[in-house]
Amino acid sequence: MVHSEEYKAKRLARKQKFMQQAKKNNVFKARRRNNFSRRPTFQAKPYHENHNEPPKQDSNTLRQRGFFQVLPTDDLPEVPQCSHGPCLLFDKKNGPEVEETFFACAIYRNHTEFCDFKLQFNKETKEIEVKEGEEAEKKKKKKKIFGYNRIPKALTEMKPTDTVLYCKDCINVFPNKHECVCEPVDRDVLARPTTLLPPVNEQHGESQFFFSEETLQVITKAVEKSEVDGILCIGAPRIFENIRAIHPEKNVFLLDYDKRFAKFFPSKQYAQYSMLVDHFFDKNAEPKLMEFFQNSKSVLLITDPPFGVFMEPLLKTIEKMKERFASTGKDVSSFYSMIVLPIYIRKYVLHDNFWMSDYRVTYDGHKLYQHPEKTIVRLFTNLPTECIDLKKINGYKFCQSCDRFVTEKNVHCKRCDACTSVEQGKWNHCDLCDKCVKPRYVHCADCARCHLYGRCIQK
Ligand SMILES: C[S@@+](CC[C@H](N)C(=O)[O-])C[C@H]1O[C@@H](n2cnc3c(N)ncnc32)[C@H](O)[C@@H]1O
Ligand SMILES: [Zn+2]
Ligand SMILES: [Zn+2]
Ligand SMILES: [Zn+2]
Ligand SMILES: [Zn+2]
Ligand SMILES: [Zn+2]
Ligand SMILES: [Zn+2]
Repeated sequence: MVHSEEYKAKRLARKQKFMQQAKKNNVFKARRRNNFSRRPTFQAKPYHENHNEPPKQDSNTLRQRGFFQVLPTDDLPEVPQCSHGPCLLFDKKNGPEVEETFFACAIYRNHTEFCDFKLQFNKETKEIEVKEGEEAEKKKKKKKIFGYNRIPKALTEMKPTDTVLYCKDCINVFPNKHECVCEPVDRDVLARPTTLLPPVNEQHGESQFFFSEETLQVITKAVEKSEVDGILCIGAPRIFENIRAIHPEKNVFLLDYDKRFAKFFPSKQYAQYSMLVDHFFDKNAEPKLMEFFQNSKSVLLITDPPFGVFMEPLLKTIEKMKERFASTGKDVSSFYSMIVLPIYIRKYVLHDNFWMSDYRVTYDGHKLYQHPEKTIVRLFTNLPTECIDLKKINGYKFCQSCDRFVTEKNVHCKRCDACTSVEQGKWNHCDLCDKCVKPRYVHCADCARCHLYGRCIQK
């Protein structure tokens, strides 16, 4: 058969397009092998490291980060510390090969501009390979915690008629005059430092984004409905200060790396803490946390980890807190958690009675996540579903069958007997997969599952 030039050109274009797609598929497969994927539906195993930011900018760094795996350090005699506390142990992988194993900062991770501490570790000898000059860094003194409750103490010394000046540089209050430029404030505001302190917003470090007023109300209501008497906030200072202010009858405790909070709160309610390594910077802090557990009949742990958190160490920390609570003679069934995470790492937490609320978590001043329609952050909890009450929030409806609030666009699938959409509107039921799938997914016979067109995962 003789083909026209036009036909040949079209066939060539099709072939090129196919080759391009095949190349993309290979990249995708390689990324899968390295436990990194932007599409968690394809995750065969849990991945070891995730990021919450869309990977458009800084894509090299983020892709790189996908190759890091956090290793347990329980059986090691010593874990080195940088000036930000104990380090995490990482494997850097290139495909299945481990390129290097090293300790690095648990706060700033692989962001050398904030902390370039790195010590090679030999897995065979279980020894740290210290190079010249590193020893000094390793022994770097931990910064001292200072001035718990300094601001409330200073307030008690002031006369009721004094004008209270808050100085953001000194992080302290002064009656009537002070040498720095500062503003008069209401005394009440001083119980809410997240409204006064500028957020620490180092990318991949503290990533301090405070909840919007609406999210604060939703979580506060959940705390009230749960009727727990102890609330442990890990990296959730705005929740802590709100519950503390409006429910003085409840036990509250804040663990956060940001030590500026020490000046606003007493040591029996706040401790500087590194959440991925379960480290207290003040040796008196853990006994105080134990007192909090002792005094609480039931506990709700609320954590909003920084964007890009490593999940294994975080979940380990939550388990550790549960053990501490149980060690005071209480049943772990009275220990609840609420973890604030982006949707695509949901598989990590969706087990043991954990469920994901459709509520769209928003943050003050975050360029994307201040908008309910753009945020991908959700609440994951093992609290009863009635605790997340969205009656007064626009954009949600109550599903009787699921017994929870869902987004207006969510549709109850009779076959799954659940409101299955997680994002992007209604999901469609695939009979072959026997579950609901994302709207743009099509069933692929080769892979025996649904996926985006051209995204085959089979060889
Ligand atoms: C995304 S913000 C969450 C704040 C929360 N949305 C609120 O409004 O209360 C993360 C918080 O965790 C703290 N943090 C970041 N890395 C930490 C770490 N490794 N250990 C303990 N706290 C950390 C930050 O200081 C910050 O307060
Ligand atoms: Zn460090
Ligand atoms: Zn000052
Ligand atoms: Zn439903
Ligand atoms: Zn379905
Ligand atoms: Zn299917
Ligand atoms: Zn396929």
